[in-house]
Amino acid sequence: MIYLDYNASTPIDPAVYEAMLPYLSEHYGNPSSSHAMGRAVKAVVETARGQVANLLGAKTGEIVFTASGTEANNLVIKGVAETLRHRGNHIITSAVEHPAVINPCKYLERHGFEVSYVGVDSNGRVNPKDVAGEVRPNTILVSIMHAQNEVGTIQPIREIAAIAAQGGIGMHTDAAQSCGKVPTRVDALGVDFLSIAGHKLHAPIGVGALYIREAIEIEPLLHGAGHEDGRRAGTEAVAMIVGLGVAAELAAKADHAAVTALRDRFCDGLTAAVGDQVVLLGDPDDRLPSTAAVAFPGRIGAEILAACPEICATTGAACHTESRKRSATLAAMDVPERVAFGAVRFSVGRFTTEAEVDAAIGMVVAAVRSLPSTG
Ligand SMILES: Cc1ncc(COP(=O)(O)O)c(C=O)c1O
Repeated sequence: MIYLDYNASTPIDPAVYEAMLPYLSEHYGNPSSSHAMGRAVKAVVETARGQVANLLGAKTGEIVFTASGTEANNLVIKGVAETLRHRGNHIITSAVEHPAVINPCKYLERHGFEVSYVGVDSNGRVNPKDVAGEVRPNTILVSIMHAQNEVGTIQPIREIAAIAAQGGIGMHTDAAQSCGKVPTRVDALGVDFLSIAGHKLHAPIGVGALYIREAIEIEPLLHGAGHEDGRRAGTEAVAMIVGLGVAAELAAKADHAAVTALRDRFCDGLTAAVGDQVVLLGDPDDRLPSTAAVAFPGRIGAEILAACPEICATTGAACHTESRKRSATLAAMDVPERVAFGAVRFSVGRFTTEAEVDAAIGMVVAAVRSLPSTG
């Protein structure tokens, strides 16, 4: 198989796996226990917190471990809404967010909140001026993703955060896709909250984290004992957290240029062979090193992938074949249906090889040539 779906999930790095193993076997204490075995695992949880904080340029105490990126997003969006309800009931987000942001917002709309979904340009980019235009006296949170999962476009978070700060409004970014792939230092981005998802940066599925700027208190999602400094109840998943810590440390040293080169090799190879039959989606310059989102106008993305059974890539986020509906992201980018239906997202990463990229180009080109275009 040729795995070109790093935006969906990444393989666990062998160093991450090795680091986790002892915490699935001999170190089974509860981090809240005051005896020696409890204290030992508590110490490694705190080491991991420091490793994640270091990747984000944050303080150790500003990191809350969660079970996923989805949970981190829910914690900040619902937590801020509940905590600041007395001050306002308006949230600004974008039309191209992941469902892990869109759906907590929809939930809040059913509970008396108002949400503005700002649009994007044809590259999938939010214009900070559009965010500024939505600010109201009752706005309590701006939540704009750092990098878009379907097309890889990187959003102007720093500019948007400056607008939020000017209005005294909390700023969140969902960095599930970007963390580990591009720099995500919270002070450079100017954010108050930032979500990460372990399985997008070579940690296992089932662990995530939320950065909460020091001194900000938000209502937790999960109430229980006082874990995570009262911000997320539930005994810490020690092995998963250790894995995320090591993954964060590796990400801090990751070679983004090498991944970018693989992505460009793939795009250039496709263009050289079938350049008149393929278009690039997303921002051509400011996009994730991993992401080669392309479309074959007049063709169906799922049919192209079906003709390349050895390639793992995705059309799911871009085109729901049974209903032939453009994804919300491609619709927001105003990608015509004829183009959007032919969309395929290929995404590369640390373990992708040039040989895999070259083989995949050959398979995709053969599929495109063999499948008739609907014109
Ligand atoms: C932008 C973005 N946010 C959030 C998530 C959800 O993260 P998790 O799978 O850890 O719940 C994803 C995963 O696809 C994502 O791409």
